[in-house]
Amino acid sequence: MTTIDTSIASPGLSYAIYPSLSGKRAFVTGGATGIGAAMVRAYADQGVHVGFIDIAETEGRQLCRSITDAGGAAWFRKVDVTDIAAMQAAIADFAKAEGPIDVLVNNVANDSRHEMQDVTPDVWNQSFDVNLRPAFFAIQAVAEQMIARKQGSIINFGSISWKAKVDSMPAYTTAKAAVHGLTRSFVKPLGAAGVRINTLLPGWVMTERQITLHLDAEGEQFLRANQPLAGRITPEDTAAMALFLSADDSALCTGQEFTVDGGWT
Ligand SMILES: NC(=O)c1ccc[n+]([C@@H]2O[C@H](COP(=O)([O-])OP(=O)(O)OC[C@H]3O[C@@H](n4cnc5c(N)ncnc54)[C@H](O)[C@@H]3O)[C@@H](O)[C@H]2O)c1
Repeated sequence: MTTIDTSIASPGLSYAIYPSLSGKRAFVTGGATGIGAAMVRAYADQGVHVGFIDIAETEGRQLCRSITDAGGAAWFRKVDVTDIAAMQAAIADFAKAEGPIDVLVNNVANDSRHEMQDVTPDVWNQSFDVNLRPAFFAIQAVAEQMIARKQGSIINFGSISWKAKVDSMPAYTTAKAAVHGLTRSFVKPLGAAGVRINTLLPGWVMTERQITLHLDAEGEQFLRANQPLAGRITPEDTAAMALFLSADDSALCTGQEFTVDGGWT
């Protein structure tokens, strides 16, 4: 059997610059760490004014400062997305400070593992309160302006986990499956105004959290057995897809699934 080196993190890749993104405004939920942080950096590198919220205040402030110190435009507020009013206020305040939002990225999630027998109604609701509900209310907060301006791109983060029949987090995978319904529910009302909405499905992306919690010897073997494309998917690989879906280059793409999973599904 061929041995695959899964320690390679997208070696030697160079990514596109999108002229259509320069000067735009993007808002990312859960942007302080992981894939969200990679997207925040990627947008800033494209000249986008990027706003983001997260409960991880230290990481969020550090990321925001590192971008502004380098001459980029970033805006951060500590918000728990289970507080819908606080999340919508942050979206409104960012738009007031920086201008109307062109790109919304519903990225926030919590994939904590849970056994079926341990899921109480409260645990179920807590999962949906982070993994599904904020996406709807963030869309609600930006839709009117996007429709009025006849432009905008919304990216909802799904996951391949439910397609891959992962069985260690049923509330999370159910919420992630529902993200597809959420996306498709808005395709027509937004599309009439030229506003786009798509679902981005990551495979197993090697964030610090994933590496720390799940990439042990068994995890490495699981990766080799299931991901045909050699190497590890990085947060930057996923951010590259988000940039494409934000830019004019994807102008006629809406209501679709875009998967970055190295061929897993
Ligand atoms: N990493 C993967 O392998 C993977 C695979 C499939 C799908 N995804 C999806 O990609 C997206 C990003 O994944 P990730 O691995 O970077 O996630 P993560 O768990 O590492 O990061 C999510 C971010 O959300 C923040 N957050 C969590 N709860 C919050 C709350 N209540 N209020 C505000 N912020 C909160 C966290 O602090 C963190 O910064 C998620 O939608 C996830 O479901 C990731």
